[in-house]
Amino acid sequence: MRKIQFFDTTLRDGEQTPGVNFDTKEKVQIAKQLERWGIDVIEAGFPIASQGDFEAVKAIAETVTNMTVAGLARCRKPDIDRVTEALVDAKDPQIHVFLATSPIHMEEKLHMTEEEVLASIDEHVRYARERFEKVQFSPEDATRSEKAFLLKAVQTAVRAGATIINIPDTVGYSNPTEYGALIRFLIDGVADPSIIFSSHCHDDLGMAAANALAAIEAGANRVEGTINGIGERAGNTPLEEIALSLATRKDFYQAESQITFKETKRTSDLVARLSGVSVPRNKAIVGANAFAHESGIHQDGVLKNPGTYEIITPTFVGVANNSLPLGKLSGRHAFAEKMKDLGFNFSDEELQPIFKKFKDLADKKKEINDDDLLALVASRKAAPCRLTGLRVSYSLEGVEATVTITENEKSFSETVQGSGSIQAIYQAIDQLLPTTTILEDYQIKSITAGEDAQAEVYVALIDQEGRIVHGTGIDFDVLHASAKAYLEAKSRVKSRGENK
Ligand code: KIV
Ligand code: ZN
Repeated sequence: MRKIQFFDTTLRDGEQTPGVNFDTKEKVQIAKQLERWGIDVIEAGFPIASQGDFEAVKAIAETVTNMTVAGLARCRKPDIDRVTEALVDAKDPQIHVFLATSPIHMEEKLHMTEEEVLASIDEHVRYARERFEKVQFSPEDATRSEKAFLLKAVQTAVRAGATIINIPDTVGYSNPTEYGALIRFLIDGVADPSIIFSSHCHDDLGMAAANALAAIEAGANRVEGTINGIGERAGNTPLEEIALSLATRKDFYQAESQITFKETKRTSDLVARLSGVSVPRNKAIVGANAFAHESGIHQDGVLKNPGTYEIITPTFVGVANNSLPLGKLSGRHAFAEKMKDLGFNFSDEELQPIFKKFKDLADKKKEINDDDLLALVASRKAAPCRLTGLRVSYSLEGVEATVTITENEKSFSETVQGSGSIQAIYQAIDQLLPTTTILEDYQIKSITAGEDAQAEVYVALIDQEGRIVHGTGIDFDVLHASAKAYLEAKSRVKSRGENK
């Protein structure tokens, strides 16, 4: 059976989602989970873009052992050199070089003629191939390029040493019939079975997953995408949907992947939590309603035989795998074992503070399940500013909030009166961390069911330069979760200002 390679760009295209900003620790955490999920290639970042991106790519290259690690480069030698440096320790490195080939991009953005574009592809793919065995070339905006010129560009890249050709539907313009035919046309035009063809589809018209599957039908052996479909504008191909489509309809696609399906939900949850982009309830495979049956007729059918209305079982993708909840009396050993089950191999030193947090939570919550534990792990960021006190009192005149934060072992407090508790808390934090921001989004949800569920609050702020900065806070109490989320976002704005 044909094997389809999965190329994950959550940390590169996914991070281009407005408001998404992973730090290096978060990127490494996501990379490790992607490795557990069974990804073949991870695009760890765009090393020339910033020092932070460079360091994250390097850290991932040093950490993962079972995936190819790719770095992105424009057709420029300094970009290629920076990828080379970042991937020096990667066990299996790959470079991804791109240049636009559509008339609008060449004329309006690059100010280059067709001849200049072909010469640049030749020069830079050759330069990349001198440094890497695996070289992927992408003709950006391929689906709005003229077909004959696109083929010339791809043939030029192959002659210069490209081993993988990725065809981006950069603006999500194509449809399955057209995109599948384009892939077939290019495969036939190149006529070299050693070249891997890959899809990269954006979701502007809601067809990213369908287009990617059409590419596979047409002969592409690699699919690019992100977890939960995050990415530039409307996002990218949701890889979980492709993985489950291939598995569920193996009869039709006659193709398989090396994805470990039961890690799917956990991978999605981690990316949702760290990106701050929550998954819609009705999202395929990983949405909260993906396995919920509402109609009486459906419920009756599922009780008689789940196959009547379920084409995938929830446990297959790791949903509702909370068989062994922990509680107040669970010891350190049981906790460490559970963490291992969840895929975290913490050292004793790393485990201690998480175990303490678990005990604090267990004092407030009867049963701690997998989602609570994943939330605990996700919330253990070493924030420079920590919320160390919150008091809110109510009177007929309004609300008074006193917020205390600790930064570098020093504590600071502010008290503010307001008309609502969140408003008073946020104004107190504004006074403690005076940076100009606008609160753009505030969302609250419960992590698990039940009255003793933990709350997860997400906030997005717009800073003075118009950038979106997000923060997430998890706590048993909604006001604490709200304060933590806001404090995290404000600290990010402040540290960006200081690092300039
Ligand atoms: O969408 C796009 O064209 C890209 C390229 C860099 C591959 O993300
Ligand atoms: Zn893209």
